[in-house]
Amino acid sequence: MADCIHKKNLVLSIESSCDDSSIAITCIDDYKLYFSEKTSQENEHNKHGGVVPELASRLHIEALPKILSKTTRYFPYIKAVAVTTQPGLKVSLTQGISMAKAISLGLDVPLIEVDHLQGHIYSLFIEKKAQFPMCCLLVSGGHTKLMQVDDKGSKTIGETMDDSFGESYDKVAKMLGLSYPGGPIVERYASMGDENRYDFPVPLRQSSQIMFSYSGLKNAVRVAIEKEGKIDDITKMNICASFQKSAVLHIIMKLKKYFKQNTPTNFAVVGGASANMYLREKLKKLLKEFDCENFQAPLIEYCGDNADMIGRVALQKIKLDEVII
Ligand code: KG4
Ligand code: ZN
Repeated sequence: MADCIHKKNLVLSIESSCDDSSIAITCIDDYKLYFSEKTSQENEHNKHGGVVPELASRLHIEALPKILSKTTRYFPYIKAVAVTTQPGLKVSLTQGISMAKAISLGLDVPLIEVDHLQGHIYSLFIEKKAQFPMCCLLVSGGHTKLMQVDDKGSKTIGETMDDSFGESYDKVAKMLGLSYPGGPIVERYASMGDENRYDFPVPLRQSSQIMFSYSGLKNAVRVAIEKEGKIDDITKMNICASFQKSAVLHIIMKLKKYFKQNTPTNFAVVGGASANMYLREKLKKLLKEFDCENFQAPLIEYCGDNADMIGRVALQKIKLDEVII
């Protein structure tokens, strides 16, 4: 992380759309990060088996000022404040937005509203120049979305009709008595299990449409768990592996259909669940079949929600003159 701040033009960014309180300071001139800190609420929500909105809001009120107090030395150089304004939990978003408005007024600098999904796309370009156009898959706790993206915005090709990819991992984890968030632990259990032990359905296999669905697969897992009765660790591993095989194959089959008509030159996967290595490996294999060498994914530390990606979007808006500083 860069440090000499003398005469730099900086953006302070805030992310609080769900259960992560995060603040970053990014340099407008050279994209460098000067400060980045995140307080995750996972342990608190884990006690309740998932995110409790009111608790998330209260924890943001505690965490955000603590992080902000470490950034005061940058205040003289801040030229804009960026904040996630949507989508997300209203009560959580509000905490970041109130803080951003107060700083923007206090420092007399513009307030830049950032869409969280655009943030995930720009997580690819933290401390780097952006490269477009590309075909992008966003997999998170709230979304499963295939998009065509350029520097002006994105066009949705297909999205989920019900649960998202990450959410289905969270729900499977909860059914198996594993911790929240479910993604990392289900992936770990899956890596030790037999993916052919259960024959879970691959969602929308017969449909020619580019769309996603995870509620049917989740119910199939529920039925299998109920049938097993008391389940030991080996059974949990086998269920996780078989579930993950279908969850990822669903994405691969839909992408294959889309690529047949629209072979990508550049492809990226972003969002919290893009940290999943099994998914990344299957995507790479598919892209190879289509001779697409250009596969991008964020660094693991930028897959989940963070203010760094929100600051990076703000830089783009400034560069495109959408915001005058
Ligand atoms: O992007 P993110 O931090 O928050 C939202 O914008 O939703 O994504 C969080 C989601 C959670 O559902 C979490 O279980 C999932 O991403 N996730 C994973 C993995 N790591 C996180 N899902 C599958 N495999 C993973 N390794
Ligand atoms: Zn997110």
